[in-house]
Amino acid sequence: MKDKTEIMSNNMMDKIISLCKRRGFVFPGSEIYGGLANSWDYGPLGVELKNNIKQLWWKRFVHQRDDMVGIDAALIMNPKVWEASGHLKEFSDPLVECKKCHKRFRIDQVESKKCPECRGELSEAKQFNLMLKTFLGPVENEDSIVYFRPETAQAMFVDFKNVLETSRKKLPFGIAQIGKAFRNEITPGNFIFRTREFEQMEIEYFIKEENWEEVFEHWKKEMQSWMKNILGLQEKNISELSVPNKELAHYSKKTIDFEYNFPFGKNELYGLAYRTDFDLKNHYKEEPYLDIEKNEKLYPHVIEPTFGVDRSVLAVLCDAYIEEAERVVLKLKPVLAPYKVAVFPLLKNKPELVEKAKEIYNNLKKEFTVAFDDRGNIGKRYYSQDEIGTPYCVTVDFNTLEKDEVTVRDRDTMKQEKVKVSQLIDYIKEKIYV
Ligand code: GAP
Repeated sequence: MKDKTEIMSNNMMDKIISLCKRRGFVFPGSEIYGGLANSWDYGPLGVELKNNIKQLWWKRFVHQRDDMVGIDAALIMNPKVWEASGHLKEFSDPLVECKKCHKRFRIDQVESKKCPECRGELSEAKQFNLMLKTFLGPVENEDSIVYFRPETAQAMFVDFKNVLETSRKKLPFGIAQIGKAFRNEITPGNFIFRTREFEQMEIEYFIKEENWEEVFEHWKKEMQSWMKNILGLQEKNISELSVPNKELAHYSKKTIDFEYNFPFGKNELYGLAYRTDFDLKNHYKEEPYLDIEKNEKLYPHVIEPTFGVDRSVLAVLCDAYIEEAERVVLKLKPVLAPYKVAVFPLLKNKPELVEKAKEIYNNLKKEFTVAFDDRGNIGKRYYSQDEIGTPYCVTVDFNTLEKDEVTVRDRDTMKQEKVKVSQLIDYIKEKIYV
C-alpha cells in the first residue's frame, strides 16, 4: 500500500505534468497515435525554458572561459567508436523478466523477488545492452548496423586531435557539447526524468594525471554554483552521493552524483566523473598527445562534468512550482522564464489603449520574450502569467495615455509600481539579469 508521502508526491507530479500539458511546456509524444513509450515533446513554452538553460550553460562554460571550446558532432558514429569505448560490451543494466506477465524490469526497481505488477515469479537477472540500434543505408544486414550515441561524450574524445590542431589549446583545456543521446532504457518513466531519447550537456576536461583531484574539486564547485546561482535550485533539494566502487561505470575511477529531491524521490540529476585516460588510450592507440614543453608523449586524463538537459528542466519546474491560496505560481528565476514580461491593455474595447499596449509590446519584443493578453479581466491575466512563471506584467491604462506611465506588477511579491514608458526596458533589464 502507498504511504501518505508517496501519494502526495505522485499528486505533485500529476499537477506538474498537467500544468506542462495545459500551458504548452511538455506534451506526450505522438499523442494522437496513443503516444510512444514515454516520449515527450517540448511545446512553445517548454522549448523557451529548455533553450534558456542550454544557452546559459554554453555562456558560462564555453564563452566565459578561456580553457573551453565547443563542438556539435553527428549523433550516429562509426560503430568502432562503441567498440573502443567499451559500450558494446559494458553498457548494460541487469534485467529480470516476470515468468507470468513477461514484463521486464531493471533489477534495482524491484523490491522483492516478485513481479511489481502481477506478483508473478521473476527470472534470474541477465545483462541487457542499452545501445539503440538501427541500419544505415539501403541494405539491412550485420554490416550496416549502427548505434545512436548513448552519451555525447565520445565525440569529444574522437574529435580530440582535430580540436587540438585547430584550436591550439594546451592542457588543461576542455571540450563541451550539447546534444541528444539515446538509450534503450528497460523502464523509462517519471515524466521527462528517464526517457529513451534525451539531451545532455557534457564537458570533457583534459588534464595531466597528477592534477586530477584538484580539477575534480574545481568542477564540483562549478556544478554546485550552476545549480544554485544559475538554475536557482534550493539547496535543501540537492545532495551529493559518492558512487560506491562496485557501481561505477566501466570507465570511471571516481564519480559523484548530484541528486535532486524530485516529488517521486531523491534521484540523480547530474554526474561528475574521473574517467582517467581510459577513453583517449582506447581511441588513439598509436598517437598519444605530445606535451611540447616537456617533449614527452602522454595520454591526457579526463574529468567529466555531465548535465542532463531534461532533468534540469524537470528539477527547475519542481523547484519553482508553488501553490498559494489564490494562485499557482512558477517562481522561476527570471532568466529562465519563457516570457520575461506580459503586456495587457486595461480594456479590450478601448482602441486607444489596445493601440498603445501594442506599441509598448512591440518595443519590448526587441529586447525580451513578451506575451500579449487582452482576454478576461486583469486578475485572470495575472493568474495565467503566474502559472507560467512570467516575472513582470505591464498594464496599459488611461494614465499611460496621459502621463506615459504603466503599472508593473511583480510575480513574486504581487506588488505594483508605476514606471515611465521611456524607462521600462531598463527597469525590466535590471530586475531580470541579476
Ligand atoms: N557521459 C557520461 C554519462 O553519460 P550518465 O550518468 O550515464 O553519464 C549523464 O548520464 C546524465 O544524463 C545524467 O546525470 C542524467 O542527467 C542524464 N540522463 C542519463 N540517462 C537519462 C535518461 N534515460 N533520460 C533522461 N536523462 C538521462
